[in-house]
Amino acid sequence: MASIKDTQTQLEVASEVISESDELIIEIKDLWRKFFENTPAEVQALRGVNFRVERGEFITIMGPSGSGKSTLLTILGCMAPVTSGQVFIDGTEITKMNQRKLSNIRKEKIGFVFQDIFLIDTISALENVLLPLLPYGIKKEDEQRAKELMRIAGLEDRMKHKPTELSGGQKQRVAICRALINDPPIVLADEPTGNLDSQTGGEILELLRKINYEKNVTIIAVSHDPKLAEFSSRDVMITDGEITRDRINPFRNHNVS
Ligand SMILES: Nc1ncnc2c1ncn2[C@@H]1O[C@H](COP(=O)(O)OP(=O)(O)O)[C@@H](O)[C@H]1O
Ligand SMILES: [Mg+2]
Repeated sequence: MASIKDTQTQLEVASEVISESDELIIEIKDLWRKFFENTPAEVQALRGVNFRVERGEFITIMGPSGSGKSTLLTILGCMAPVTSGQVFIDGTEITKMNQRKLSNIRKEKIGFVFQDIFLIDTISALENVLLPLLPYGIKKEDEQRAKELMRIAGLEDRMKHKPTELSGGQKQRVAICRALINDPPIVLADEPTGNLDSQTGGEILELLRKINYEKNVTIIAVSHDPKLAEFSSRDVMITDGEITRDRINPFRNHNVS
């Protein structure tokens, strides 16, 4: 007799097949996230969000401070719990997963670019890019791949430098290479240009555009930068924990240099 676990696995496999056929890479159903639930201080950071993303989309999320953008991104990045609702990443429902399974999804599906960059200052830029693979053992081909990514990001002559010897824009490019080292189909970026001047920010946007356009990586980036919306295939506004605008960009610019 098939165990519940077998049935569960079959269902997971089936839903993966379905999502592959229609290229849906993220699906969110009636997602709520409350902090301090059922207390006078309750905050409803996400209030019944429904959202679908197809493979290869480049989505910009905008919205006022405190509207729930980071909460949404960290949930999609399998780094934060939900209060209720469902989240499917590449066909797999993640909201009830244990930590071990979540970390597998993170490894296989997600690259995350933080606003605060988070590089380790005592190791080289190249070693920072390789860092996510450390628990699995770093192979020769991983190092080749890291170097290739850094070349694409214009960091070929900075691989051996420590983060303290790099500019803000170079550090953010190292962080983007690190997010790509596991070859994820999805990259989530939380205000990736928030701490950079506009020219350096432009270079980061160009790099994101490149990985989206050339590698078909699905990108969801939180940003206040109107230039980012120009590159995007779609822009979404979040206000008070709800999606209040969701537009396709018919004039998407693929060739900004
Ligand atoms: N860990 C937390 N504990 C309590 N409240 C939080 C926490 N994280 C976020 N919030 C609250 O949830 C709301 C949404 O926050 P956030 O997702 O960070 O907004 P944004 O990224 O759009 O600025 C805010 O009211 C914020 O204060
Ligand atoms: Mg935020």
